[in-house]
Amino acid sequence: MNSTIEISSKIKKFNKLIKVPGDKSISIRSLLLSSQAVGVSTIYNLLESDDVISTIKSLKKLGIKIVKKKNKYFVYGRGLDGYNYKNNTIINAGNSGTFARLICGLIASNPRSIKLTGDKSLSRRDFSRVIKPLSMFGVNFKSKNNKLPQIITGNNLLRPITYKELKGSSQVKSSIMLAALNTPGTTILKCIPSRNHTELMFKNCLKIPISVKKNNNFDVIKIKGGNRFNRFDYTVPGDISSASFFIVLTILSDNSEITIKNVNINNTRTGIIDIIKKMNANVKFKNKKKYKGEINADILVKSSKYLKSINCPKSFNTRSIDEFLIIFLLCSKANGVSKFNGIQELRHKESDRLKVASNFLKMIGVKVEESFDSLKIYGNPKLYLSKKYIIKNYFKDHRVFMMACVAALTLGGKFEIHDKESIKSSFPNFLDTIKELGAKYKICKKTHKYAKK
Ligand code: S3P
Repeated sequence: MNSTIEISSKIKKFNKLIKVPGDKSISIRSLLLSSQAVGVSTIYNLLESDDVISTIKSLKKLGIKIVKKKNKYFVYGRGLDGYNYKNNTIINAGNSGTFARLICGLIASNPRSIKLTGDKSLSRRDFSRVIKPLSMFGVNFKSKNNKLPQIITGNNLLRPITYKELKGSSQVKSSIMLAALNTPGTTILKCIPSRNHTELMFKNCLKIPISVKKNNNFDVIKIKGGNRFNRFDYTVPGDISSASFFIVLTILSDNSEITIKNVNINNTRTGIIDIIKKMNANVKFKNKKKYKGEINADILVKSSKYLKSINCPKSFNTRSIDEFLIIFLLCSKANGVSKFNGIQELRHKESDRLKVASNFLKMIGVKVEESFDSLKIYGNPKLYLSKKYIIKNYFKDHRVFMMACVAALTLGGKFEIHDKESIKSSFPNFLDTIKELGAKYKICKKTHKYAKK
């Protein structure tokens, strides 16, 4: 069942404290790494969204016992290369690019074949980015056009590789790091910096030999493979990508304030904070705490009456890769022209976010100029909507749905936003949280065909 939500009034002023669910990247990594640890790991505050459920279901198919008791997940790790599955096992990654790419690394040393499948959105995404380096380790992939479904056959004689990762993709980097875990010898990765949760977990949870050094604009990571590691405990902090919708909702609402409790503010994830500060928004961190190499804090945000446009430095791109949709919305109300360059990776997300964003902004009357890898947004501080807008055919991209809700709650007009179920990928209680702040919406149960394009 696909339902639609209707929003026809702006949110009234609010002053609230909220929590957002556990970080998706960290949730998936904590499950994957604990599945090859020795002993039973415990994970608290795991995100319970479809992407994480696909991870749990798939790990169970690979022979890993995972149980939930009260608010804790217990993962019965079977050690390095400990998966136990039959030849030709099928695993379904659903909508999760992170799980799909990372699992390719973790099964690299297992000579039994796996068929990896995914939903329609994931099946249009590119896997050559992981196929290339993992093939160098000795893994065999069979697929049409480097897309899902694909058959992956690992190899118990893996060889370490030296690889340059130039997309700034943490999924690619992490997939290589996970293959390196099971590969005797030293794997060397030179990569454009991207979210570093895998590196931090290797150091602070697995405690295995890894070195990370800065060299000009690259991170150089060296991993000695073949070291067993023990069980660990992990408490997953809130997800800044989920928080970002509430950050922008607050900035664009009148006389409002929000505190978002215990969010991960790892520097590789806080591009959005630097961007909105440059745009003149009022945002602060409070109660900063270090936890297993990560930094978590409460985020305090107030409404802004005057927003400046931004010429976004390229170095912010990987640090705000999942937040661009909501940042673009903010730019539509800024004074002046905002410019983003080198953002072609947005075309390879759950939808082509560069195209979806530029179509969305045009639809609501904002002038944009889009190229293959850039976007210019002509902001209008007086932007006010009064027409009816229908948001559909966006590959059920969860972040498009949430961005459209924030637009509807802050810009006026009447919005009909299809595919409400998309939020289950990352933020299943998103609508309950906007309701807590006073948002009004109507849910209409409707079945409509999944739009092919
Ligand atoms: C993720 C990395 C990013 C991000 C995705 C989660 C991760 O993808 O867009 O939502 O958990 O490693 P890329 O690594 O492809 O940029």
